[in-house]
Amino acid sequence: MEIKKAVIPVAGWGTRSLPATKNVPKEMLPIFRKPIVQYIVEEGIGAGISDVVFVTNQNKTIIEDHFDRNFLLEQLLERAGKTGMLDEVRRVADMVNVIAVRQKEQLGLGHAVLTAREVCKNEPFAVMLGDDLMFGRNTGIGELIKAAQITGKAVVGVIEVPEEKVSKYGVIKGEKIEGGMYRVTKLVEKPPVAEAPSNLAIIGRYVLLPEIFEILEKQKAGVGGEIQLTDALQGLADQDKLVAVKLAGQRFDAGDWVEYLTANIYFALHDEELRDELVKRLQELLSCSG
Ligand code: UTP
Repeated sequence: MEIKKAVIPVAGWGTRSLPATKNVPKEMLPIFRKPIVQYIVEEGIGAGISDVVFVTNQNKTIIEDHFDRNFLLEQLLERAGKTGMLDEVRRVADMVNVIAVRQKEQLGLGHAVLTAREVCKNEPFAVMLGDDLMFGRNTGIGELIKAAQITGKAVVGVIEVPEEKVSKYGVIKGEKIEGGMYRVTKLVEKPPVAEAPSNLAIIGRYVLLPEIFEILEKQKAGVGGEIQLTDALQGLADQDKLVAVKLAGQRFDAGDWVEYLTANIYFALHDEELRDELVKRLQELLSCSG
């Protein structure tokens, strides 16, 4: 099974990140030197993705522009002799093929995926959400692609979360099978701690097969009046067509301010030029009482 396309839904309103996201898409907020969406696209490229399908709306065109050439900027950088930055700007523009489809009404994540149907047609495809940033070895969408290739089934990414935090997430019930995978039997959205079937929380990485479109087409609105992808995945689980892969590594929820800021610090601390200066400033801040 070859997976070349990744659907990246970006049509949501990003209400958790307002007012920063009033006019700037959540996916374009920077984490250290790059916008969030570039990390997502680079993770996909690392796993063999060559085409990204942005499910977008009329206020989000700057996301597509980020992965396009900008000749005026390139001329300016060339004239200024800023060749390192020029190479970087061109590298980003050329890194991936971009396809954009418009979700004309924001009817939910399930509906956003359905909007990509004409582009994905009969191929298996990845879905990657910008809220979840994954870093480390052997983590992210590449692990899900391997699982789909082994099992021939749709795959959802999960992470282990502390038990007291399960009610913030969608959680799976599953039986352990080989290679860190689970056969998923049930998906429960935000369960009370006492009723959670596990502490394995669903994060924004999926590999789906075209069969999902038939389910999504008939899917009625669920929680919040939205067409939920999780409800459609339950349809797959009912037919024993869904596995979960437990992902390790660092994960940041970019829609949560503490996590977003921590991700910025994580990357800055990994930058040799900035590290020492940043540590010094942070120490000063922590020791200052005012
Ligand atoms: P969320 O509901 O978590 O994101 O959808 P949101 O609406 O952007 O942000 P908050 O929660 O209000 O802060 C998960 C993903 O699905 C996309 C969003 O852009 C986000 O990446 N989405 C959601 C769509 O593309 N279309 C929709 O109708 C709903």
